[in-house]
Amino acid sequence: MAVREIREIGDPILSKTCKEVKEVSERTLELIDDMFETMYEANGVGLAAPQVGILKRIVVIDTTGEDPILMINPRIVETSGEQTGYEGCLSVPGKSGIVTRPNYVKAMAYNENMEPFTIEGTELMARAICHELEHLDGHLYTERVEGELVNVETENGDDDEE
Ligand code: NI
Repeated sequence: MAVREIREIGDPILSKTCKEVKEVSERTLELIDDMFETMYEANGVGLAAPQVGILKRIVVIDTTGEDPILMINPRIVETSGEQTGYEGCLSVPGKSGIVTRPNYVKAMAYNENMEPFTIEGTELMARAICHELEHLDGHLYTERVEGELVNVETENGDDDEE
């Protein structure tokens, strides 16, 4: 496992659309391990493959630090409600902004064995799923921010960065 370099806003790879994963190779498994390690090292709650420069539809999320979730070829199948709050991104270091998201999200994805599963979440989990899936289509939360981006303290590893 290795920590990979996180691409930052302005890097053209973050604007590209990712490709579906057709099979999970040894190389894909290595990527997934590295994505988890990179996310934890950066104190993030989510990371998408393009953030480490790989244009594949792979996302990792862990909103509690004890609940690692891998989503391959994920898609949202249901949303409801609304939440408005601060959001951050590991690709936009030191910044945060207000974004409105659904308060409930149900998604379908594949695991490392390419077996389908569904997952649902509310609040931070719902926000993280929406945020990470948008990375796969080349979008950053900064496109949705209501008002200005604000500076946040990152010295101790700010939480809730995706
Ligand atoms: Ni992000």
